[in-house]
Amino acid sequence: MDLITTLEGLVPELEKGLDRASSLEELENLRVDFLGRKGRIAQIMAQLPQLAPQDRPAVGQAANRVKESCNALFDARKAALEAGREAAALARFDASLPGRAPWRGSLHPTTLITEEICGIFKGLGFDVASGPEVEIDRYNFEALNMPPEHPARDMQDTLYITDTVLLRTHTSPVQVRTMLARKPPLAVVVPGKVYRRDSDLTHTPMFHQIEGLLVGQDISMAHLRGTLTAFVRAVFGGATRVRFRPSFFPFTEPSAEVDISCCICGGEGHVNGEPCRVCKTTGWVEILGCGMVDPAVFAAVGYPDEVTGFAFGLGVERVAMLKYGIGDLRMFFENDVRFLGQFN
Ligand code: DAH
Repeated sequence: MDLITTLEGLVPELEKGLDRASSLEELENLRVDFLGRKGRIAQIMAQLPQLAPQDRPAVGQAANRVKESCNALFDARKAALEAGREAAALARFDASLPGRAPWRGSLHPTTLITEEICGIFKGLGFDVASGPEVEIDRYNFEALNMPPEHPARDMQDTLYITDTVLLRTHTSPVQVRTMLARKPPLAVVVPGKVYRRDSDLTHTPMFHQIEGLLVGQDISMAHLRGTLTAFVRAVFGGATRVRFRPSFFPFTEPSAEVDISCCICGGEGHVNGEPCRVCKTTGWVEILGCGMVDPAVFAAVGYPDEVTGFAFGLGVERVAMLKYGIGDLRMFFENDVRFLGQFN
């Protein structure tokens, strides 16, 4: 039975080969050489038909035993090689090194304040509306009671695209668009970007406003006062004092500017004995413009004479600066992550 001896001799031979194999690739080569379809065991088995029929079963059984042994040897060696690889990888891994913290994003303070303010007005029953940043003169000025030679147009320092098309200088044109599209009663707030030819410490060519408009029957200055006082206290705290100063806007009559007690010094004018730099010791800061919608504006949008309403407009960056005590308007536009990351 020398075929059986030859078969059994393969096992120690494979053992030697496996000892020398130092990679999974070498291991695979050995496997093909011994166990493959044209491998050494297969070659021996190919001689089976030449044996006498009564000798064949013993050789077949021996071949199966040898295959099993070979497979077991391969598995053991493979496991050992893989364990070695893992150990080497772990040896390079230093678990005591500081981890890399993932960057965490946060919403821009302008977005945060916008969402907060719109949320407050939504709670009071207002809808949120929007309008285009490229606007026509008629909606930005004329329908808001600012005819072509009106001096108030100068205050707005407009960026024109053509003689009649411009970048909106305020969110007020969306008052006009809303009233042209809807019948009263209505209440909307309109957040958005506005543009002016202006750039210095306290002015940027683009900034954000939120417009408010409420139209209905028998709306009075008292409704305006109540609404804006509730809004101011929701943003700046319940102890905030509010005062209305007479002012002028072409699209409201009467008009007012709203001041709040300074949220940095609490209206005292001084912080720890130092003059308050936010209110400049007056104890008050201006926060928005407002008024009763001028009948000329209602006429421009074809509303009936009986309707009454109030409107207001505020600067979002200004509110954020007052609320967070930010001294420099440019912070909002430089996108320094050290600044932006503080508003999580
Ligand atoms: N549009 C004004 C501005 O940009 C702000 C404003 C004032 C809006 C009074 C209003 C308002 O709706 O009633 O300066």
